[in-house]
Formats: sequence, C-alpha cells, structure tokens
Amino acid sequence: MSLARRLFAAGYDPLMSAAERGWLGRFRALLLDHARGEVVEVGAGTGANLARYHDVIRVHATEPDAEMRRRMERKLDAAPVPVEVSAAPAEDLPFPDASFDTAVSTLVVCSFRDPARALREIRRVLRPDGQYLFLEHGGATGRRGTGSGGSTRSGATCPPGATSTATRPTSCGTPGSRSSSWSAWSPGPPACSGP
Ligand SMILES: C[S@@+](CC[C@H](N)C(=O)[O-])C[C@H]1O[C@@H](n2cnc3c(N)ncnc32)[C@H](O)[C@@H]1O
Repeated sequence: MSLARRLFAAGYDPLMSAAERGWLGRFRALLLDHARGEVVEVGAGTGANLARYHDVIRVHATEPDAEMRRRMERKLDAAPVPVEVSAAPAEDLPFPDASFDTAVSTLVVCSFRDPARALREIRRVLRPDGQYLFLEHGGATGRRGTGSGGSTRSGATCPPGATSTATRPTSCGTPGSRSSSWSAWSPGPPACSGP
C-alpha cells in the first residue's frame, strides 16, 4: 500500500472531525434515518456512517482500501446494528440481484474508477422497491458549491428535496469551494427535480 493511501486513511477521521460534529454529521443522520431492511453501503471508508444506522436488519459495508477498512473494523463493536464488511469495489459487488432494500453512498461516487458501472451495480443489487440514499459532490462551474443529498426509488417519484440527477460528478471537490457542487445522483430513471 502506498504511503499516500496510508496517510489518507490515518488523516481521514481527524480531518473530518469538525465537519462530522457539525453539518456533515447532521446530513449523515438525516440521510440514514431513511435506511431500512437489508442495507449495502459502498465505499464505507473508516465507517463514519455506522453509528448512525438504526432499525435496519444488517449493513453490508464494502470498502476496497485495506487501511480504511482496518479503521472501520475498529468501530464494529460500537455499531448499533449488525455489520458485515467486505473489500469489494462498487463496480463489482459480490451480491445476487435484488438483495437489498437500501443502498447507501456518502462522499464516494467521485472516487469510483467507473461511476456508471458502479451505479449499475447498485441498481442491480437493489430490490425493485429498494431505495438509494446518497450524499455526494462533484465538479461544477459555479462560484459556490450547492448542497444536496437525497434518495431515489426505482420506478417511483422522487421524495421531497431530491434534485436533478443528471449531474455526473467529475472530480472530488471541497464542499463550498469554487469548483465543487453537492449533487444528487440516481442510478437510473427517473431523473428527479424538485422538491
Ligand atoms: C472520501 S472517502 C468516503 C468514505 C465514507 N463513505 C464517508 O462517508 O466518510 C471515499 C472512499 O471511497 C473508497 N473507494 C474508492 N474507490 C472505490 C470503489 N471503486 N468502490 C468502492 N469504494 C471506493 C475509498 O477507498 C474511500 O474509502
């Protein structure tokens, strides 16, 4: 493993801690209140979401980076719901079709090698009435980033607060910076606008 990856993993929780105590922690809690049933979380990182799940059957947390995964595994005993961890990348999820009621991604779509393939995988493993909960950001041309997260359901209308899903994140920007925007993303139709 490269030194850069190790440093990223070691610095992730300390670097994010102020945001986690404030706006980011609130966004995570708001999003994950909607999780239900069998859950798959892709790119779960150091496990920042784990403490916020409740009323779900189980969370299958995937994280391909060994160092991030090791840090997540330290948090498993404190997780309020059962968690299983795997190393699978989002582009190649080791689960049968229609296995999950909820898929979750936070701050991760911009890291995918192949976002379209990863989102097809998310759609594949979701049940027809499943939901995708996301908090994501990506490249934008606006002076200031705009924030959004949301959820989509296959074949259903988007819930209040969902925004256009046509945006493709192109890079990992910093929220609120000149070059980033926080975007809702859907793995497929419908493209949502709203509220
Ligand atoms: C910025 S971190 C976000 C971690 C966590 N989701 C969070 O909200 O704190 C991005 C994570 O995506 C993971 N990642 C990178 N490529 C991935 C892929 N192809 N599939 C799944 N996860 C990936 C990285 O290893 C890293 O842990």
